[in-house]
Amino acid sequence: MKPVIAIDGPAAAGKGTLARRLAAALGLAHLDTGLLYRAVGRLVLDAGQTPDDPAAAEAAAHTLVAADLARTDLRGPEADRASSLVAKMPGVRAALLAFQRRFAAQGAVLDGRDIGTVVAPDASVKLFVTASPTARARRRWLELQSRGVAAPLATVEAELQARDAQDAAREAAPLKAAADAVVLDTTELDAEAAFARALEIVQSRLGFT
Ligand code: DC
Repeated sequence: MKPVIAIDGPAAAGKGTLARRLAAALGLAHLDTGLLYRAVGRLVLDAGQTPDDPAAAEAAAHTLVAADLARTDLRGPEADRASSLVAKMPGVRAALLAFQRRFAAQGAVLDGRDIGTVVAPDASVKLFVTASPTARARRRWLELQSRGVAAPLATVEAELQARDAQDAAREAAPLKAAADAVVLDTTELDAEAAFARALEIVQSRLGFT
């Protein structure tokens, strides 16, 4: 049976890049589960409703199809805020669970906030990828700049911290490391070093030499 690899952690810790590279190296499918919450937020906005309306968000979550994850408007401050709001709602989380579990069943790398704790508690390997708030804000700021979005570093850092606080304090599947997760702090690591370390951890957990 193919392995399931769970990668959780706060925003801009580098888990998306890591997950993608690990999936490619191991020949596994990859799902960025943040896209599900982002797409639900967008569908609510498309319908002219507000993302803090649980009934609207839950209805949107039930209509979500795989093609919604390929939308080109899932990044940016508006989508960030909407996704964090809908992610607090137990009804939305429940509606998205079956999709994630079906995806995981083929053997896959999934990254998000609750993969090791809720979506795939029996995952073969769990990584909790983190970095200092300052390092994460800087990475997000550089990413925004590369997409031509100008925003002051201090604003980026404040928004990131507000979103982390919301993700960690919510009652439904809060952001936290699973008890059996390996914590990988990437504050002092560049993308290459973080990938090398993550691959080492995954291969040793999977019993590769
Ligand atoms: O990883 P991201 O920034 O794309 O996630 C968008 C939002 O969705 C963020 O506020 C956290 C939330 N999320 C979640 O609650 N559970 C997941 N498995 C993935 C993301």
